[in-house]
Amino acid sequence: MFSLPLLTAWLLSTYPLTVHASTCPTKPVLPPWLSSPWTESAEILENRPWTYEPECVGPSWKHAEFKDVRFCVFTTAHFHEGRGLAVITTPDAADSIFLSTGFMAPESRPRLPDVPAWEEKNLPGRGMALVANRTIKTGEIILMDQPVLIVVREAYRLLTEVDQEMLQWKALLRLPEAGRKAARGLAKAGLGDEIMDVMQTNGFAQAYGGVGHVHLVPQGARINHDCRPNAYYRYDEDMMTHVVWALRDIEAGEEITHSYIHDPDVPSQKRKQVLRDTWAFECNCSICGASKNKVEESDQRLEIIRRQKDRLFISAGEQKKPNMTASIEELLQLYDDEGLIFPKIELFELGAYAYGQMGKEEMAMKYAHRAKQWWNWAVGSSVFVD
Ligand SMILES: *[C@@H]1O[C@H](CO)[C@@H](O)[C@H](O)[C@H]1NC(C)=O
Ligand SMILES: *[C@@H]1O[C@H](CO)[C@@H](O)[C@H](O)[C@H]1NC(C)=O
Ligand SMILES: *[C@@H]1O[C@H](CO)[C@@H](O)[C@H](O)[C@H]1NC(C)=O
Repeated sequence: MFSLPLLTAWLLSTYPLTVHASTCPTKPVLPPWLSSPWTESAEILENRPWTYEPECVGPSWKHAEFKDVRFCVFTTAHFHEGRGLAVITTPDAADSIFLSTGFMAPESRPRLPDVPAWEEKNLPGRGMALVANRTIKTGEIILMDQPVLIVVREAYRLLTEVDQEMLQWKALLRLPEAGRKAARGLAKAGLGDEIMDVMQTNGFAQAYGGVGHVHLVPQGARINHDCRPNAYYRYDEDMMTHVVWALRDIEAGEEITHSYIHDPDVPSQKRKQVLRDTWAFECNCSICGASKNKVEESDQRLEIIRRQKDRLFISAGEQKKPNMTASIEELLQLYDDEGLIFPKIELFELGAYAYGQMGKEEMAMKYAHRAKQWWNWAVGSSVFVD
């Protein structure tokens, strides 16, 4: 293990200081979770299962208004069958993570049977991928995994780049070998510092204790992008478990995919741009790689979808309603034609209300059942009771 000054010197010599993009010089408003001052006391550490003493740094001089804030590395080897967990966050946010059921009572976390329905394969032009090796049914859980590294988002804004890299390297190097391997084995986009690259290329945005973090879920991160994905994921914060489930039936031999694009309705140019800027790859999904005609057709359909959605959701609360059920049916059809599955969920729900208001009970029930089924898959089955 090397010492902090050595590591800093090494990082400084290896990685030139880049200038941060200028941050907005507006008046600082301290979010409540940042405003409680750091207490440098042993009492915080008592009864906390760290494998190492946490190590902390403060914000750069450019963020003097946050001078009492500390970002610390918390590490434990006793997580996920010895793979370990490293967290870079504020002491308060760390508490909320380490007090969760998934951390305190790992035996209670949900698990899948040992035989996965997929294999890891190297696909030409796609890199490492998860490929189904039997039929997976709609709604079926495909994999469950846990984070190995969690970083609070504010650390990327308030710390110097050198400190960000230093903390992340400390976090990584303090993990047991299995954890280090899991993190370092993930895809890189060639964006400079290895660990920064791994986080940016593979990190999922996730709130812990209401605070924005980015976390690394190794198996979840193996799933490649498709604009028309066949899988979706949810995260059970209390169980600290990332759950991937099937959006439709997936046949043996098909690659399991997510969409990396948050908003599924964006036109092709924007979609390509986001993928290029964030993940440094050229989109080659079924839509991006289609013929010019097909791409234009898709863009036109997406434009209609956006307009229809605006009308439907904006006018839903107004006096003069359009024909709601007709708009919902039309939009569902457009999503089917476009091959988008997930956005249909909120239409099922809206459909149940709209048909209910018209007194069409049978249709209302049909949509209510669908909405319930899909929301259960989307957020976990315990939220809806019959
Ligand atoms: C699918 O692959 C997994 C390994 O990831 C293996 O354990 C399992 O037996 C395979 N299932 C079938 C049906 O081949
Ligand atoms: C896009 O994918 C197809 C196969 O799906 C492949 O033949 C083609 O080379 C890929 N294009 C790029 C630019 O990666
Ligand atoms: C609204 O559309 C539905 C079809 O979804 C149709 O059955 C109904 O008659 C229409 N209502 C009005 C007032 O136009």
